[in-house]
Amino acid sequence: MATTKHTVAVIGGSGMLGKHIVTGLLENGHYDVTILSRKGSDESKLAAFVTKGAKIAPVDYESQEDLVSALKGQEIVISTVGAAALAEQPKYIEAAKAAGVRRFVPSEFGLDSGAPGVREYFPALGYKYATRDALLASGLEYTFVITGFFLETQFTSLFFWDVPGGKVTVKGDTTQPFTVTSLVDIGRWTAAALRDPASKNATVYLVGENLTYDDAIKTVEAATGKTLEVTRESKADLEAAIAAAPNLWASFLDLLLRAISDGRGLTVEKDKAWNSQHHHHHHHKQLRSLATWAPTASFQAADA
Ligand SMILES: NC(=O)c1ccc[n+]([C@@H]2O[C@H](COP(=O)([O-])OP(=O)(O)OC[C@H]3O[C@@H](n4cnc5c(N)ncnc54)[C@H](OP(=O)(O)O)[C@@H]3O)[C@@H](O)[C@H]2O)c1
Repeated sequence: MATTKHTVAVIGGSGMLGKHIVTGLLENGHYDVTILSRKGSDESKLAAFVTKGAKIAPVDYESQEDLVSALKGQEIVISTVGAAALAEQPKYIEAAKAAGVRRFVPSEFGLDSGAPGVREYFPALGYKYATRDALLASGLEYTFVITGFFLETQFTSLFFWDVPGGKVTVKGDTTQPFTVTSLVDIGRWTAAALRDPASKNATVYLVGENLTYDDAIKTVEAATGKTLEVTRESKADLEAAIAAAPNLWASFLDLLLRAISDGRGLTVEKDKAWNSQHHHHHHHKQLRSLATWAPTASFQAADA
């Protein structure tokens, strides 16, 4: 039986996360995928997706008209833009509405920007809050995809881990659980979740695992067969570094580590996650955990 595919546009599909969202959508088989990319951006990085059936739409984001015309005919728009363009998202929402798009999925994919008290606790995510507000006011359908931390960046140099070199530095309270999800699983589960009627006007929590830094050290040691050399920095050191930073951006990583230390890195319990509630389907089985990834981990933040 022939089925109609959902048309979906991914803004920033060449990015670290975006590549995995595009891969998940293409592998799902129920989507007709268009990747929006800045005019003049290196298109060769998208060549492999074209081979797999994706279309590329180069867009001048400065022109609202150009953006609206690129979004015409799309049912769903997924924004996977990174820090450099998070502030632009209200413009994408406006354009999506003008183009007749049904649902907008903003670039969340991290801590829960709808959690009680989070705006006061974590003002550095201001562009995500502004986007959330604009989307709720727009009348478009929405899905917020909340994933916690990316596995492939969390246990790398970015957060002071050197798994291949057997050395890590952990900061603050290392007994607090936080949420970690692999980029590979985020791509597949997001594609599957957007076909679930329950994702309409909802937050979809994806949870690979909830673990503490102390658990993570044990897991990596067991998976690699090596004892890690662990350096510990106190909560007071973390607070001092944050206080000494000239602005929120300069202390962004320390703010994230403090959130973990304060127990705010946990999104939801695993049994509340969308992927746990739908685990019977093959698309929803977890592909990558800290234990399976650690033996191949890179020192640099990477998505290998
Ligand atoms: N949970 C976590 O641990 C974690 C970690 C990192 C990021 N995140 C989140 O994941 C999302 C995606 O982040 P990312 O790091 O994957 O993004 P990224 O790689 O920095 O950027 C994604 C894409 O955005 C496009 N883009 C559009 N306008 C741009 C502009 N003005 N400047 C630069 N790029 C622009 C680029 O594609 P073209 O060149 O093709 O236009 C780029 O490849 C964000 O919401 C971020 O906060 C979460």
